[in-house]
Amino acid sequence: MTLMTNKRLSVAPMIDWTTSDYRFFARLFNPHAYLYTEMISTGAILHGKTERLLRFDASEQPLVLQLGGADFKEMTRCAVIAQQRGFAEVNINVGCPSDRVQHNKIGACLMAEPQTVAGLVKHMQAEVDIPITVKHRVGIDEHDSYAFMRDFVSASADAGCKRFIVHARIAWLKGLSPKENRQIPPLRYDDVYRLKQEFADLFIEINGGITSVDDIKTHLAYVDGVMIGRAAYQNPYLLAEAMQLWGETPKSRVDILSALYPYLEQQVALGEPLPSIARHVLGLFQGLPGARKWRQALSGKQHLTVNEIRQAGERTLNLIAASQEADTTSSL
Ligand SMILES: Cc1cc2nc3c(=O)[nH]c(=O)nc-3n(C[C@H](O)[C@H](O)[C@H](O)COP(=O)(O)O)c2cc1C
Repeated sequence: MTLMTNKRLSVAPMIDWTTSDYRFFARLFNPHAYLYTEMISTGAILHGKTERLLRFDASEQPLVLQLGGADFKEMTRCAVIAQQRGFAEVNINVGCPSDRVQHNKIGACLMAEPQTVAGLVKHMQAEVDIPITVKHRVGIDEHDSYAFMRDFVSASADAGCKRFIVHARIAWLKGLSPKENRQIPPLRYDDVYRLKQEFADLFIEINGGITSVDDIKTHLAYVDGVMIGRAAYQNPYLLAEAMQLWGETPKSRVDILSALYPYLEQQVALGEPLPSIARHVLGLFQGLPGARKWRQALSGKQHLTVNEIRQAGERTLNLIAASQEADTTSSL
């Protein structure tokens, strides 16, 4: 038994950030966390570069496909494809406030249509065995009461959804950009805790503004899971620190880099450009001496080789070692 028995830690879906390359990297820090794809629209899966969009490395499991869509036939077809390809779960995006998705009636605006979301859950779940889950907000615009969220959740739960991930802020669909909608509306953790109290049988996972292992522990006293977004991207070592929740020791950054290099070499051999992969590892040394130099060595480059990344890694590790030595000397 550990703190994580029947609990879950996840890394949030983030467009342009949680690509397969990032997920491979994130997995090196923590073998237990659930990872999510970026939101992928049904149109892109059914009519786009499906192979490229849905491919993943086996090490990324457990991996959840997040779908953006509202048409139940298309969403169901995509859920079936997800199951065939081995995704652990399919998640419906009911949290994204961007104008582009609102225009297509997907994302947070669907909170105003609980029966549409419930219908999606019902049709999708009827065709697949993997769980269909919902990620949503505590409310949207003037629909900002606890009762509104409760009724929204209740409708999808009646349709068969057992797991909800709640971004603990409302979304203002008019007047705020997606970025502002992740910062300005206040966090309402208590509403998420209350949801868990009221629906004890549902798996309720909390999201929004969670940045430390202590934060995770605090929330897990009230809910079943914690989802981390920006902090897991900007400071991925947080995922290693979280290993203490499973009673395990975190891997060192040295070990993580050693596991990363063969992956980078493999990607180069496949013809993938390194700068677009390296952007996901910029946060590796966040908060440590040399973090800025590491970021500078890897970012804004047209070309990059594995050897250059290796050298930057060595330099940063040496800087950290030197500063630790200086600390010990000064404290003598
Ligand atoms: C760059 C970026 C892209 C995002 N893309 C998605 C997305 O595709 N689907 C989604 O449900 N949420 C998306 N989000 C929201 C996150 O999943 C998460 O709910 C939000 O960042 C709050 O969590 P945090 O405070 O831990 O970052 C995105 C967030 C960021 C920063």
